[in-house]
Amino acid sequence: MIRRMFRFEHRTFLKHSMGLQGYEQPRGLKGCVTMSRLIVNGGRPLHGELQIQGAKNSALPILIATLLCQTPSVLHNCPDLSDVDASCSILKYLGCSVKKNGENIVVNPISADKYDIPDELMREMRSSIVFLGAICAKLGRARISFPGGCELGPRPIDLHLSSLRQLGVVIEEDHGWLNCHTNGRLRGTNIVLSFPSVGATENIMLASVTAKGTTTIVNAAREPEIVDLANFLIKCGAKIKGAGESVITIEGVDKIYGCEYTVIPDRIVAATYMAAAAITGGDLTLKGINVEHLNPVFPAFREAGCIVETSGNMLRISRIGKLYPVKNIRTMPYPGFPTDAQAPVMAMSTLACGTSVFIENIFENRYKHTSELRRLGANIKVEGKVAIVEGVKKLYGAPVEATDLRGGAALVVAALAAEGQTVVTGLRHIDRGYASIERDLQSVGADIHRV
Ligand code: EPZ
Repeated sequence: MIRRMFRFEHRTFLKHSMGLQGYEQPRGLKGCVTMSRLIVNGGRPLHGELQIQGAKNSALPILIATLLCQTPSVLHNCPDLSDVDASCSILKYLGCSVKKNGENIVVNPISADKYDIPDELMREMRSSIVFLGAICAKLGRARISFPGGCELGPRPIDLHLSSLRQLGVVIEEDHGWLNCHTNGRLRGTNIVLSFPSVGATENIMLASVTAKGTTTIVNAAREPEIVDLANFLIKCGAKIKGAGESVITIEGVDKIYGCEYTVIPDRIVAATYMAAAAITGGDLTLKGINVEHLNPVFPAFREAGCIVETSGNMLRISRIGKLYPVKNIRTMPYPGFPTDAQAPVMAMSTLACGTSVFIENIFENRYKHTSELRRLGANIKVEGKVAIVEGVKKLYGAPVEATDLRGGAALVVAALAAEGQTVVTGLRHIDRGYASIERDLQSVGADIHRV
């Protein structure tokens, strides 16, 4: 309660001090969370049931998509995260009315008429680049700041920009800003992506649903979050075929209308909690999941010696015997092993009885957690894309710092099995993707609390 009050006061202070009273300051800037830490006393097997939150990476583009509608949308199962707050802040800044009540968000885009996004808001969340296609399609122009690199590496946006240009957006780069305009309605076309980028696929979908004519995306991303975005848009009246496959076809329609929609469950949060169950030798039941979305990670947990059973929208994971190494994890676009699950699964493998090998193929700089895992006693060597983890007998509690979202979650996973106390700082990263990590883990027996 006190933490919540302080968050609010700090945000209000920031809004005034930055002269940004027009919109809600997102939680990513909340200094109190930067200072707060998780205290984990490891060594307790996790037992019990957890309900899995809605998917951040679905909720974000779907929130952006509401901007394109002629009438309000009602979204359910939106996780309570700083990134979701950041999206809502941008929608409000653009002129939408946004009402958030727990995991339900109502967006009324009728009065949205602003076409720029302030730099402070762009920097809050790298995926705000996906606003570009939607704003251009709705208002015929946009001005946003260039999203820089991030904790995962340089993260270029060339595929986003070249695709939008092909749809008819004129883009000028001006000292860190992107000034964009269209000459009337965007025009459908055939776009071939050199890599199945999730964000670029979303940007194209958003820009083309109301374009004139048909757009085809070849080598589109196939992630479940793409399918979720397509399902939302289809419910709003868009004509989209092939989402979840490599070729997506979008037949432009004049208008789309808001709808009521429930966001899919978060497969990466589920995979993180599976890793926590595995490393502690626990027995967890995860409820409200989509089993199909987790198929790419199940082999790793079974190889590690876990029993994974599924039934409807639930799964049970338990480990009684030894923790075995995972021989060869190569991160790939869906349906390959997800890059977002690499760090938590690596944390699990630090205590395995043998050598695990990871090959990170999606992001250049996604091994930052390895140096912090080493502080806990892990034996990890990194050479370019490859990380080799020699399992150790024990991890030992230590102060560690989260420097990115999934890397931070990996530190929590390792801390749950480390002997003694681990203090995790850098929680603003973890809070971007996990709505209630300490509450969830406490409820299944972990000794973890936030101070
Ligand atoms: C999405 O990021 C997710 N973010 C990421 O989740 C996830 O790791 C990633 O997809 C891959 O699955 C959201 O959905 C909000 P990409 P995105 O475009 O869209 C290169 C998490 O932890 N690329 O598929 O930014 C890029 O540099 C996060 O929740 C270009 O070269 O990912 C990267 O190497 C972090 N040019 C690769 O493609 C471009 O124009 C994949 O990026 C775009 C991307």
